[in-house]
Amino acid sequence: MGHDWVEDAKRRAAVEAVKNIRDNFIIGLGSGSTAAYAIEEIGRRIREEGLRVLGIPTSYQSLLLAAKFGVPTTTLYEHPIVDLTIDGADQIDSNLNLIKGGGGALTREKIIAAASKCLIIVADERKLTDRLGRGQLLPVEVLPFAKPFVEAKIREIGGKPHLREDRRSVPFITENGNFILDVDFGVIDEPLDLERRLKMIPGVVETGLFIGMTHLAYIGTKTSVRVMSTLRE
Ligand code: 5RP
Repeated sequence: MGHDWVEDAKRRAAVEAVKNIRDNFIIGLGSGSTAAYAIEEIGRRIREEGLRVLGIPTSYQSLLLAAKFGVPTTTLYEHPIVDLTIDGADQIDSNLNLIKGGGGALTREKIIAAASKCLIIVADERKLTDRLGRGQLLPVEVLPFAKPFVEAKIREIGGKPHLREDRRSVPFITENGNFILDVDFGVIDEPLDLERRLKMIPGVVETGLFIGMTHLAYIGTKTSVRVMSTLRE
């Protein structure tokens, strides 16, 4: 659990971000505690303002929240192009490159982000960093069959992989039936290069590096919401 200001900052960031949603949008519904506030606010706008949208959940968590807050859902099959996705992040640098995957939903999150015309990240200011990887492990989703091979390849390129486990020391299984390796790369100097190297390893399903995907970030501070953008004026 965060401090009081953190929960307040997350909620304020999410509420500001949801103001970008217009009628008839297809909305990517992100995962995690900050994205959850956005789903709640979308539900409020549907109920109180008659907003008409459809959401595409990135996880069972966001599917259940959509049902709870009255956000109707659809799939990429009906709507392969998403107008706007609102999602959280574990680390955000000044170019709005991200590390995601704390909740293990990175693969679906990245697919929905890539299918979106606009990706908005919502977070509290503790997520900002000058360098990705500083004090932050990089989640990598891997096919269980390939785990030992992928671990060896990751060590070759300088990472220290740790299999994600639940509290009973049972491997964490993603919604795609895979494992997560939380990898210590230290500070990541060349995130795009690392992304390419990891994606070339057979058995790597996806990485938590989101490079050049984010358009806007709403960052909740102790007192306000700071908007960061990669959009040209
Ligand atoms: C899940 C994610 C989340 O968006 C990320 O972990 C942030 O979560 P929170 O808003 O609870 O801090 O990437 O895979």
